[in-house]
Amino acid sequence: MTDTRANQGTRAAVLAGLGGFVPPRVVTNHDLAGRMDTSDEWIRTRTGIRQRHYATPGSATSDLAVEAGRRALRSAPDVEVDTVVVATITPDQQLPHTAPGVAERLGLSGVAALDVSAACSGFVYGLATCAGLIAAGTSRAVLFVGADTFSTTLNPEDRTSAVIFGDGAGAVVLRAGSPDEPGALGAFDLGSDGGRWELATIRGGGSRQRLAVAPLDPADTYFAMDGKAMFRQAALRMADSARAVAKHAGWTLDEIDRVVAHQANLHIVQQVAYELGLPVERCLTNIDRVGNTVAASIPLAMVDAVRDGGLRPGHRVLVLAFGGGLTWGGTTVHWPRLQLAPEPPTLTAPPNPGGTA
Ligand code: UT7
Repeated sequence: MTDTRANQGTRAAVLAGLGGFVPPRVVTNHDLAGRMDTSDEWIRTRTGIRQRHYATPGSATSDLAVEAGRRALRSAPDVEVDTVVVATITPDQQLPHTAPGVAERLGLSGVAALDVSAACSGFVYGLATCAGLIAAGTSRAVLFVGADTFSTTLNPEDRTSAVIFGDGAGAVVLRAGSPDEPGALGAFDLGSDGGRWELATIRGGGSRQRLAVAPLDPADTYFAMDGKAMFRQAALRMADSARAVAKHAGWTLDEIDRVVAHQANLHIVQQVAYELGLPVERCLTNIDRVGNTVAASIPLAMVDAVRDGGLRPGHRVLVLAFGGGLTWGGTTVHWPRLQLAPEPPTLTAPPNPGGTA
């Protein structure tokens, strides 16, 4: 039980740690061209992607989440976490959800642990959830991981969607603090349009179409997407969220130093920059190396940008996401001074031999 009185007056969620992990197995466009009717040239020019990482068969989302979480915790060694939140739409299994096992494996047994499900918007929806837990005084410090092994959902017969996605996990540590300090998350703009749910789906495996009963159509066990319609909505919705949160932060659009948008397609990121009238160089991107990693894409882009100097203390940063549901959202942050943990000697995440729990 948390004493909410302890947190009076220090209720902003402040970014205190950051870490990311991608599994070691690299799958290049050329590898995919050997398996399906596609080409390196098509994938590169339509999406900006050159390669992605796939988890090895037998490993699961929590394996990636634990590794990213460990790195984020190492980057905020003085923070005592009392809550673990995992954003994912590829949980290890239907029950239990993924966060309790991640907490257990990180030596955090006993803390509050919950999953957030909002597809490619999961990271921004999860940040908002964590910020709410901190603002209410329910949590003093949260380890929040966005993690997906989306390769497990891809239909090898559907070349349009199969070439885009990769696996990965990215994590942040958020602690209670003052709204004025560097790293304090600003206001959130969150939205949804359930009328357009059919644009991105995995229809089987839920309560409507249980997998114990053979699905009506085997294709329903895979991810399916109307890419063109998603593209249009993504640019529009993220630009709208950007305007809303920048206004709330009191920033004019040209004062924005960096945009960290969900990495769905390089051209979507460029379109958002165009809609906002910003030079495209202010938009961070690592999609060429990792593809679309769903809930992990924003923190993985942050990790790469901190490492290569693209994100620096004092930058005014917009964080934007869009995904199935449809869902979208954004927030702002003055980038803080963060110390990334040194990479462990091996990138290989040890699979959890006993399952998640
Ligand atoms: O993360 C959640 C949010 N996700 C998104 O927002 C995804 C947004 N959408 C996209 O990124 C793009 O729409 C895609 C990358 C998914 C597809 O690109 P596109 O430019 O919209 O392609 P398309 O589906 O309109 O297909 C154009 C052509 C078609 O051929 P024809 O009919 O013109 O002869 C496709 O059959 O490209 C063909 N095609 C391919 N060719 C080679 C589709 N996929 C491939 C492929 N390799 N992998």
